[in-house]
Amino acid sequence: TSSGKMGYALAEAARDRGAQVVLVTGPTNLPDPVGVEIRKIKTAIQMKAAVSDAVQGADLLVAAAAVSDYRPRHEEAKKIKKAGRESLTVELERNPDILAEVNGSFLKVGFAAETEDLIKNATKKLKEKNLVLVAANDVTQPKSGFAVDTNRVTLINASGKIEELPLMTKLEVAHIIYDRIVPLLKAGTEVAHRPQSGTPSVRLMRARVTAGDFGHVGGGIFAYLQEPSRVLDINETMGRVKEILKENGLYTQNISSFCYQL
Ligand code: C5P
Repeated sequence: TSSGKMGYALAEAARDRGAQVVLVTGPTNLPDPVGVEIRKIKTAIQMKAAVSDAVQGADLLVAAAAVSDYRPRHEEAKKIKKAGRESLTVELERNPDILAEVNGSFLKVGFAAETEDLIKNATKKLKEKNLVLVAANDVTQPKSGFAVDTNRVTLINASGKIEELPLMTKLEVAHIIYDRIVPLLKAGTEVAHRPQSGTPSVRLMRARVTAGDFGHVGGGIFAYLQEPSRVLDINETMGRVKEILKENGLYTQNISSFCYQL
């Protein structure tokens, strides 16, 4: 099972680049990220429904959930008694493959946790699920994969380019994935989804600021650029945020240091 850390890091990295983010998540022990719309679900069926809804008008779907491939066919209303039973058979049925089945005018990125034939198996998933990029990781490696803060992944894109990344934090992995995707998105969004209004706005909100999340930023004011349907380059985002804050007389040293830290 996964801890949700990679998915949360992906949501936070996209938010920090100015994207409007919907995070669909199963139960985790992680704090809710600020500035992200969160939809909590428990089953694969619910996740598929929530994802199908969230991708309406979206430019990108990134799937990092380790969804179980099967679920019990029947749910017992009561505790199963062990008396007189030496073994028990639970019938399982297939769960939907969410990433493969949810399609539309958005790009798809997936993860592939593999124990053997990393490149071959990940490439197969990329093709079968119609992805633009797959992040493959060998989960037999220490410090990589489930429940830890770090990951060592190999990126494979749709033209077969293979990029082996060193061990790094999941947040860094998320940013590198967006670095690779943003050029594709910009080309795609020309025809697909343009933001409704041409003027971006800055949203200011009180944030729960902890050292681990954003570093110490004094006042705890959190600013981010709202420009629906577009993942912006980080420098572009920060430049625009600062400009808008200045125009509105809201620019302060705190915000500047915060922008710098992103
Ligand atoms: O399970 P598998 O290795 O095929 O997972 C590859 C990708 O597909 C991952 O991005 C995972 O989040 C996604 N997936 C899914 N629904 C499933 C199983 C996997 O969306 N039922």
